[in-house]
Amino acid sequence: MFITGETIITGVFGYPVRHSLSPVFQNAAFQYMNLNWVYIPFEVSPHNLKDAVKSVRIFSFKGVNITIPHKKEVVEYLDVLDEEVKLLGVANTIVNKNGCLTGYSTDGEGFLRSLKEDGNFICEKKIVFLFGAGGSSFAITGALVRAGISELKICNRTIEKAVILKEHIRKCFNFENVEIVPFEKRNDSGIWKNIDLIVNTTSVGMKDDDVVLVDEKNLKENMFVYDIVYNRETSLITSAKKKNVKCLDGLSMLVFQGAVSFTLWTGLDAPVSVMKESLSLYRKSLDARR
Ligand code: ATR
Repeated sequence: MFITGETIITGVFGYPVRHSLSPVFQNAAFQYMNLNWVYIPFEVSPHNLKDAVKSVRIFSFKGVNITIPHKKEVVEYLDVLDEEVKLLGVANTIVNKNGCLTGYSTDGEGFLRSLKEDGNFICEKKIVFLFGAGGSSFAITGALVRAGISELKICNRTIEKAVILKEHIRKCFNFENVEIVPFEKRNDSGIWKNIDLIVNTTSVGMKDDDVVLVDEKNLKENMFVYDIVYNRETSLITSAKKKNVKCLDGLSMLVFQGAVSFTLWTGLDAPVSVMKESLSLYRKSLDARR
């Protein structure tokens, strides 16, 4: 790959940003598609975010991804907001069109594409049990409701946040079939009878001593488990595999939300399998170095 005078620049603003896997698979995608584009990680501390967004115009970046902790604040500095961003109040992708910056949120679409294309899971008329009521849960529940689920159960450690999420879904999508399950009651067996899809949008499972979200006895073979954690195998995924329950982890969503950003910037279909392959090659190279 050559960086030339004509190279088109994209990247990610985050703090920290060192852990980001997006440069790996976005650059792999640009190379595979023979595009003279590059994707660079930029560590942007919160007090510099406003200036960093200005730099997107100044340096004529084609666009950037926005990651933790900037997804909410960045919305203030954009010129145009996509409908999804207006609904969610967060953006993870900026597209620069002749100096006009439009904000998008690709998490919901990325999640749905991942569920459909990697999981072969059809959402229509399904009953969903969702853990969490933080940032990611808003995009994911919105996508699920729009994809036609029939019922949603929300379970969050802090019940007040579950109530806010429920209210958001009712107001934005006119969807009333939402029940809140208190966190301490999550393993009552009656709750699990007709569940089709379990989604974990919390960070639970990233640490060894984390609580167990779902007792193995409640996992059935006809269910599908989706855990958005991607940096390790969570106990939920381990239990699902043990009980022969189909499952996906967050790596799939990570790639698909990136694929949606790729398409917003380039106007081209993203080479999703190349992006995934680059991540597994990268992981192997890390393992080899250990
Ligand atoms: P994100 O933007 O990635 O969704 P977040 O907004 O900080 O991150 O939300 C994190 C989610 O993980 C929340 O639902 C949080 O529950 P609370 O609302 O009770 O804080 C959940 N979470 C984090 N650590 C948890 C733990 N140890 N047990 C249960 N839930 C936890």
